[in-house]
Amino acid sequence: MTGPAREATAHLFTQYARVWFPSHSALYAEWAHGVAADADLVARIATLPPNKQQPNLVFAVARFLGCPDAGFATLAAFLRERWDDVAAELAVRMTQTNEPARCATLLPVFEQIQSDSGKPLALIELGPSAGLCLLPDRFAYRYDGGDVLGAENLAAGAPLLECATTGNPPLPTRLPEIASRTGVDLNPLDGADPETARWLKCLVWPGQTERLDRLSAGLDVLTSLPRDDPGGPVTLVRGDLLAHVETLVNAVPAEHTAVVYHSAVTSYLPPGLRHAFLELVATLDCRWIANEGFFMSDATDGEIAVPRERSGMFVMTLDGVPQAYTHQHGVQLHWEADGAWPEDGQSI
Ligand SMILES: C[S@@+](CC[C@H](N)C(=O)[O-])C[C@H]1O[C@@H](n2cnc3c(N)ncnc32)[C@H](O)[C@@H]1O
Repeated sequence: MTGPAREATAHLFTQYARVWFPSHSALYAEWAHGVAADADLVARIATLPPNKQQPNLVFAVARFLGCPDAGFATLAAFLRERWDDVAAELAVRMTQTNEPARCATLLPVFEQIQSDSGKPLALIELGPSAGLCLLPDRFAYRYDGGDVLGAENLAAGAPLLECATTGNPPLPTRLPEIASRTGVDLNPLDGADPETARWLKCLVWPGQTERLDRLSAGLDVLTSLPRDDPGGPVTLVRGDLLAHVETLVNAVPAEHTAVVYHSAVTSYLPPGLRHAFLELVATLDCRWIANEGFFMSDATDGEIAVPRERSGMFVMTLDGVPQAYTHQHGVQLHWEADGAWPEDGQSI
């Protein structure tokens, strides 16, 4: 392993320690600082393929294999002692964090689509992980501390998804009517499998207890979905979204509205495939929601500068038209449908 490769790995962990972890997980910030300063651990991690060096993936795998949420010395000892197991587990794992609260930011757009067409929605989620965001009609919502939408779901044990808004979004007064729930993922996860559920929980960073509670309650909803649920079962297809999306849209009957959507997915596509997807989705007979870390437009290439006060947020578009900035984990919705969005080709 070359010196520059080790330097790049140490730099990656330093970046996460300084930028990404501190406001979300003090323990992960401590772990990342510790790894960056530990020449032996850096040398080991630098031997992994670049997409397996992601600090939160390395840490999630360590926790999945039994490393306790304790100080850096505990992590360091665990990684040295169990390195072969860690490397083997990393080889078969990806970050597939499934965040049901993203439904709170999608809900106003689902409502808009259903009002436009008057038809139930045939959901087609690209990159659904275990499929929790295919259950928007099965959760409960509270915007800005107001009335609960979906109180019957809450009473049945569903998570209450709290969301703070600005910009006066068209908040729904009813849950969407879902006709079908289909997803396509490179690696669909079975939320009913206890080890898979444990892996999903390890992907939530230490200290994020609200997210962990939401995830657990969301998995309970998924696994207890009645056979005769009006929205049907969650069906997850294994494969690449580009290869499947057209067939899935074409299979939607005329009495339903096909809704293609994705959250935290297209950053995994290389720019060339992102463009191919944009070209394809524009030809399909569907509505299309993107909720991603960049503006999904064919004239931009992902690397946009969001305003400082919206730093780290997703941009949500409907049929390619920007609607809102959304918190990555669904707890804020900044509606800007009439706002100052860029012309095609400009940075936000
Ligand atoms: C970070 S997770 C997001 C899961 C879910 N959308 C959510 O918001 O909770 C990204 C998911 O996208 C999937 N994915 C990445 N690239 C993909 C592709 N080319 N085709 C299908 N799925 C893909 C991954 O397997 C993973 O499950």
